[in-house]
Amino acid sequence: MKGIILAGGSGTRLIPLTRVISKSLLPVYDKPMFYYPLSILMEAGIKDIMIISSSSDLPRFIDVLGDGSQLGISLQYEVEPSPIGIAGAFLIGETFIGQDNVALILGDNVFGHNLGPLLKKAVSRSHGATVFGFPVDDPERFGVVSFNDAGQVNSIEEKPAEPKSNYAVTGLYFYDNRVVDIAKKIKPSARGELEITDVNKAYLEMGALHVELMGKECPWFDTGTPGSLLEAAVYVRQFEEEKGVKIGCVEELSFKKGFVSRDQLITLANSQTKSGYGKYLLRVANTKE
Ligand code: DAU
Repeated sequence: MKGIILAGGSGTRLIPLTRVISKSLLPVYDKPMFYYPLSILMEAGIKDIMIISSSSDLPRFIDVLGDGSQLGISLQYEVEPSPIGIAGAFLIGETFIGQDNVALILGDNVFGHNLGPLLKKAVSRSHGATVFGFPVDDPERFGVVSFNDAGQVNSIEEKPAEPKSNYAVTGLYFYDNRVVDIAKKIKPSARGELEITDVNKAYLEMGALHVELMGKECPWFDTGTPGSLLEAAVYVRQFEEEKGVKIGCVEELSFKKGFVSRDQLITLANSQTKSGYGKYLLRVANTKE
């Protein structure tokens, strides 16, 4: 399975923070925002990953993690010529995806801990699409999925004025290879975007849309506003301080997943020992399981 992190867009809702830098490079507590979505793909076992962003921001992403080999993964980068909508990721990534299935995650989505079991379920499905529903107080800001009395999905709508449920669809999507053809067929919405919700609707119409519901024990943040950006950072700090373990720590994850050896982790830690982050990596490397 391939993975795509979509980290382009215009970032207008966070201006002036995003005037000279991509939203996904902004800090969420102690690491760049895109570490969080990257860690989710890695947790799902995906090692072949493309990061899509604007031509001006892409060199900054490359500066941070390069080709990913130090993490035991492969990172490729592709320019988004203009923000045509989230489903445009499958047009930009068509050659990269090839004949494989693909997971897409938005560069501004921060998931907390506990997603592991749901990720396993999504990865194990080779057919259809899997999306994740999370209960929110303001569903009108998101894609919204609703269910009939038997618990089957009966609608998925983008930013509905009158939401049929309070389940937001998060920015993490798993698709079979048909997604590329589906993305080619959808038309821009009234707001001029190739909507990911239209892709999901196509899967729903084919009877191939699976929805995994997350509870409050599995927190999720869309960092689309200054408030939610701060909320995510506060959550990460609190979690890391209370539990003594990090969220979104891609170096630790690559070690735990067996993508790199203990010695490689020590090398990664040694390059950043002046920060608490590097010291944490050293502690992980020196802890015998
Ligand atoms: O976060 C989950 C929500 O993300 C879903 O519930 C919605 O169904 C989905 O449409 C999307 O809604 P947003 O309004 O949050 O999307 P936004 O335009 O903010 O884009 C989300 C990220 O995707 C953003 O960080 C940048 C990236 N993006 C977006 C567009 C439209 C791109 O890289 N290129 C684009 O053309």
